[in-house]
Amino acid sequence: MKSRTPFVGGNWKMNTTLSSGSELVRGVADALARVSQVDVAVFPPFPYLVAIGAILRERHGRVRLGAQDVCQEPDGAFTGEVSVSMLKDCAVRIVLAGHSERRHVIGETDKMVNQKVKAILGAGLDCILCVGETLAQREAGQANQVNERQVRAALTQVPEDQMEHLVVAYEPVWAIGTGHNASPEDAQDAHAKIRLVLEDLYGPRVAQQTRIIYGGSVKSANARAIFDQPDVDGGLIGGASLKVGDFVSIARSAADSANAGD
Ligand code: PGA
Repeated sequence: MKSRTPFVGGNWKMNTTLSSGSELVRGVADALARVSQVDVAVFPPFPYLVAIGAILRERHGRVRLGAQDVCQEPDGAFTGEVSVSMLKDCAVRIVLAGHSERRHVIGETDKMVNQKVKAILGAGLDCILCVGETLAQREAGQANQVNERQVRAALTQVPEDQMEHLVVAYEPVWAIGTGHNASPEDAQDAHAKIRLVLEDLYGPRVAQQTRIIYGGSVKSANARAIFDQPDVDGGLIGGASLKVGDFVSIARSAADSANAGD
C-alpha cells in the first residue's frame, strides 16, 4: 500500500452550465459514494459553487468542493475578484493556486501565487499548488529548474505546520489539454525531484507526507500507469473530469493503485 492517500481533482475550468454541472456532480458523487482509498474534489466555476456544494452536502459528501482560483487580498476594491472568506462562506474546502492557465494566459507571477497560497492556507483551507514547465522550457533542458523555482517561490514563508494542507500538482504545460501526457517515467522523475525540493525546504517527514499529483491529459486509459509510479499520488483532471464515466474511472484507478502498493 502507498503511504499517501491519493487525491483526484476534477478541474472543470470554464465549462459546464448550472444544469450540466449539477448532473455531472450527482453522477460523480453517487458513483464514488463507496469508493475509499482516494480523496476526491471537484472545482466548478465560481457562479455554480453554492449549487454544486448543496448537491454534495445532500450526498453526505465524500467528494469535496473546490474553487479554481482566489484573490490574494482579503477584501476591498478589487472588481471581479473573489476572496478566501467568500469561498469559505460557499462551503469551499480546497482551492487551486497557480494553475498554468492563470500563470500563462492571465499573467500571474510567482509572487502572486505565493500570496494566494498563503491566503488559502492561512484561512484554514486546503491548497493545490500547480507547477510545471512549458514546452520551450522543457526543450531548453530547464524543466526541473522551472519546477524547483515555482515550488520554492510559492512556498516562501509557508510554515511547516500548514504543509499537511498542501498538495503539489505537477502539470507540464505542454501536456495540458493537448492529448500528450507525460510518460509515467517522466512524471515519476519530475515528482521525485519536486519531493527533493520539499525535503530541502521542510525535511524528510514533510516531503514524504506531501502528496504530489500529476495533471495533463490524464484519461481513463493512461491513469493507472501514471498513478502506479511511486511518487505520483493521484491527478488533477481537466477534460476527462467533464464526463461522469471517465472521471469516476480515473478516481477508481487511483484507489486501485493505492491498494495495490508501490
Ligand atoms: P487536462 O487538464 O486534463 O484537460 O489536460 C488538466 C489541468 O489543466 O488541470
